[in-house]
This record gives sequence, C-alpha cells and structure tokens, in this order.
Amino acid sequence: MTPATSLFTPVEADLRILADNLKQLVGNRHPILCAAAEHLFGAGGKRIRPAIVLLISRAIMLEQDITPRHRRLAEITEMIHTASLVHDDVVDESNMRRGVPTIHSFVGNRIAILAGDFLFAQSSWYLANLDNLEVVKLLSEVIMDLASGEIQQGLSRFDTEISIESYLEKSYYKTASLIANSSKAAGLLGEVSPGTAEHLYNYGRHLGLAFQIVDDILDFTSTTDTLGKPVGSDLKSGHLTAPVLFALEEKPYLEVLIKRQFAQEGDLEQALELIQDSQGIQRSRELAAHHAKLATEHLAALPPSESHQALLNIAEYNLSRLY
Ligand code: FPP
Ligand code: MG
Ligand code: MG
Repeated sequence: MTPATSLFTPVEADLRILADNLKQLVGNRHPILCAAAEHLFGAGGKRIRPAIVLLISRAIMLEQDITPRHRRLAEITEMIHTASLVHDDVVDESNMRRGVPTIHSFVGNRIAILAGDFLFAQSSWYLANLDNLEVVKLLSEVIMDLASGEIQQGLSRFDTEISIESYLEKSYYKTASLIANSSKAAGLLGEVSPGTAEHLYNYGRHLGLAFQIVDDILDFTSTTDTLGKPVGSDLKSGHLTAPVLFALEEKPYLEVLIKRQFAQEGDLEQALELIQDSQGIQRSRELAAHHAKLATEHLAALPPSESHQALLNIAEYNLSRLY
C-alpha cells in the first residue's frame, strides 16, 4: 500500500525529520544494528503510524508548533511497529517485506530476534525519557498487546470455532492498540481534556480495526504482485479472518476443508472459491466501513484544521484500497 503522497501533506516535513532521527537513534551501538536501522528506516515504509501521531499533534496544537516530545512520540511509535515487524517476519518465516529481503533472511533468526528485542528495549528507554508516566503506561501496554495478539493468533490457527468478536479482539491487540494508544498519548502530550483523549483513543482504535479488516480482505481480493505475497496466504497459514468467518456461516464444507488443514490436493483452491462465492467479502467490507465511520465520528472532538482533514482522509483512503 502506498498512501497517496498528498494524504500526509501537513506533516511531510515532519516525516522527513523523523526518518533521519530514527536512523540516528538506533544506529550507533553495533554495525548490525546500524545496518538494520538503515534497512528498516530507509525508504519503503509507509509511516502511517507516526504520520497519525504527528497529524494529531498538529491538529491539537493549532497555531503553535509541535514540541520535540511530540516528535519523539512519533519516533517511538514507528520504532515499536518496526520491532514488531522484525519479530513478525521470523514468526511468519517471511523472506520479503516491502519488496526487500527481511532482516532474518540475511542475519539469521537468532540475531534478528535480538535486534527486534533491542528495538523494543530502546523504544522503552526513549519512552521513559518522555517523563510522562501516563504516556509510558499507554505505550508499554501496546508492547504487551502486540505479544498477546500474536500468541492468540498463533494458538487459534485453523480454529473454525472462533467468533468475529475474538477476531476483532485479536486485531485490536495486533494492530489497533498501537494506533489507539499512540493517538491518545499525542493528545496527552498536548494536554487535551480527558474526554478528548478518549476520543483520540477511539479514533485510533476504530481506524486500526478498519485497517486490519481491509488488509484481511485484500488477502483474498488483491494480486500476488501488489501484496508481495501469494493471494490467500493468511488462509493457507490457518489465520481465519473476517471474510472466512462470515463465509463459514453460509458454507459448511469450508469447515471440513479448514479442519483438515487443506491436506488434500485442491483443498485450498476450493476453500478460496467458497469464500468468493459467499457474502464474506462484502460483509467484511461493511464491517471495515462501519469502523472507519466510527473513527471519523470521534474526530468531531477536534477543531477544524488541515491536519484534522488529513486524519479524516486517512480513514477514507483505507477503504479506497479495496477498489
Ligand atoms: C504484522 O501482521 C504483525 C503485527 C502487526 C504484530 C507482530 C507482533 C509480534 C510478532 C510480537 C512482537 C513481540 C514482542 C516481544 C512484543 P501480519 O503478519 O498479519 O502482516 P504482514 O503481512 O505485514 O506480515
Ligand atoms: Mg507477517
Ligand atoms: Mg504475522
């Protein structure tokens, strides 16, 4: 996904500063970490999460400039996300991300896991140095959520009994928690009211869920070229996402195929056909649109500005990825 460049216009200059800072923050301990930082924070990343933090910071600061602490929060957010991807690619045995080889594919799993650990630890250190206990609590909860979301996902592979509610809970832990809590933290650093802080949290929560649902739909509707991985990879790995869970309600044979883990020739293709032939994708689109709408409703708490508009556009852009 390459967001239309105009989407982040109000914070484009901030994002350039962020990219330079990130390389410097991570780079100087060890050549491996230096190479990893260059690799991870160089071109290619979408930087949606820090862009949201920066846009919220600008939307609440209005006339005033954003503070170095807001910038640092955006950097910490990207660092946490990147650390989770280093670990994720090991867990998922993915050799390519954003069209380039993943860290573990050239340094091996042992070093890649340690590099991910280092990034998590370093983000915690910078977090503590923000000297705001509430913000520390929000972002350290995110790190717990990321790990528990992945454990939940790992333990529920091929489990056809999981409900849409538990899928959404896992998606919150895996994806939405970071966006929700960093959005709220940006508000707290700008000293917004507790009510506005909750609205920012809920903007991030619903936007994050909408993002994950759209990603999960694209696994069925996109092309291998665009995704950078084969279509249907989630299903093949046993990750039962919204389109599958909805399709299971209509297509009992899908359960048989999933339960035997696509052991017989043609099983996966047949499962993909059953999903395409169901309301699963359409119902998932509606679910994503529902969360995108809720996200934008929570933004009503912010005064009008260019950054406010950009935050609304991000929600709309996410849905447009489906068409
Ligand atoms: C991408 O999902 C992965 C995440 C959003 C989070 C991954 C988190 C971990 C592996 C746990 C981190 C560990 C600690 C210690 C906190 P994906 O695999 O569905 O998507 P992809 O296509 O981008 O790989
Ligand atoms: Mg992955
Ligand atoms: Mg994964």
